[in-house]
Amino acid sequence: MNLLANTLRDRRQKLATLIDFPTILWSGGSSPRNFPANGFPFRASSHFLYFAGLPLPNAAIRLEAGKLELFMDDPAPSSALWHGEMPKREEIAQTIGADAAQPISELASRVEGAATIAVQNAITWTQQTQLMSRWVLPQSQPEGIDLELAKAIVSLRLTHDAAALAELRQAANVSVAAHKAGMAATASANIAAEVRAAMESVLIAHNMTTAYNSIVTVHGEVLHNEHYHHPIQPGDLLLADVGGETTTGWAADITRTWPVSGKFSSTQRDIYDVVLAAHDACIDQMRPGVEYSEIHLLAATVIAEGLVNLGILQGNPQDLVAIDAHALFFPHGIGHLLGLDVHDMEDLGDLAGYEKGRTRSDRFGLGYLRLNRPLRPGMLVTIEPGFYQVPAILNDAKNRSKYHDVVNWKRLSQFADVRGIRIEDDVLVTDTGSEVLTAALPNDAESVENLSRG
Ligand code: GLY
Ligand code: MN
Ligand code: MN
Repeated sequence: MNLLANTLRDRRQKLATLIDFPTILWSGGSSPRNFPANGFPFRASSHFLYFAGLPLPNAAIRLEAGKLELFMDDPAPSSALWHGEMPKREEIAQTIGADAAQPISELASRVEGAATIAVQNAITWTQQTQLMSRWVLPQSQPEGIDLELAKAIVSLRLTHDAAALAELRQAANVSVAAHKAGMAATASANIAAEVRAAMESVLIAHNMTTAYNSIVTVHGEVLHNEHYHHPIQPGDLLLADVGGETTTGWAADITRTWPVSGKFSSTQRDIYDVVLAAHDACIDQMRPGVEYSEIHLLAATVIAEGLVNLGILQGNPQDLVAIDAHALFFPHGIGHLLGLDVHDMEDLGDLAGYEKGRTRSDRFGLGYLRLNRPLRPGMLVTIEPGFYQVPAILNDAKNRSKYHDVVNWKRLSQFADVRGIRIEDDVLVTDTGSEVLTAALPNDAESVENLSRG
């Protein structure tokens, strides 16, 4: 049996030890862009990819007691004209080690008693709902055996096997090269789009896609900025959050922030070093058994301490974190699970991210924490502290009054050239500590300056 088939067999056999009912998972299909023959790029459902290994459009698999049945149609004879000769169902079944393979029309007779997970693709979701004769709602907590299945899949996908790690390392390595290319392209670029192009061209040249919409911007304070038209000018910081995805769906997620001129101003450098200190302190603490929420609070404390030292915040760092003063500048969580999805398994809400019995905090400084579990060997998470001057937060009247005495607003105004800084790496929890899969991309200020000078 080939390597892929072995891996997939191990995964479904592990699933069979956790549940005693069948599972059906759909891959999804391409969504029309403006008419059916002109579709958005197809992205298979991650749960399907985990057990089927290949991004097969319009396919489904049925898993039971460690066996895999593949359901998909052979390409129509006319499709060869437009798409070339494609592998037939039987060949694919062999590649993935399926125990049986049938046309998709046969699936209807195999759904009885099966659990499923809602696919994101709307057309497939409609078929899924009709065939299962029940509502399986994307973006809401599954119920009954669907919930049991979701929990079983979460327990498998929370930690990565050797085949997954090989893919994740590949995604990380190519994404590192993309960031280096982006830094090198900055000196001769006029607008952010040129830097984005340099970065994504590395992913494309390695036959990867982006794992999420790239953020490449001089407005890093807009957390998910997807505009690329802004001019980049000396004095600006450029924030690039770009990660690749392998052909079988495994992701990387990296952010670097560098000076357009090739040299941080003294205020930019001061804040950069605070964010880097938080990043390094977090990674230093990562090992099995450590609570990820403690890692988040550590980042918050190091940032608060750094801002006190710079005269921006006033008070004791722990006390400042207790009243969420750090969140004025670091409003998001320290990171998240990473795997087949950039926020792994976030289609299941907080089922993957939050340990049983835990729910999101409504605190300003904790509410956006996407992962709240003890770390375990084989988990891959991001560590991504940041500092942002978000006008909607800093100009908010309630914040202004609540934090009136702990922020030195006059001092803060001297840091106007720091709109947004984030440093994000992908960190694997090992048996004894951690390994930074993206370590080949430097993050200290001098190295970043050197790389951005081309
Ligand atoms: N790239 C999205 C994130 O960092 O969470
Ligand atoms: Mn991230
Ligand atoms: Mn990111």
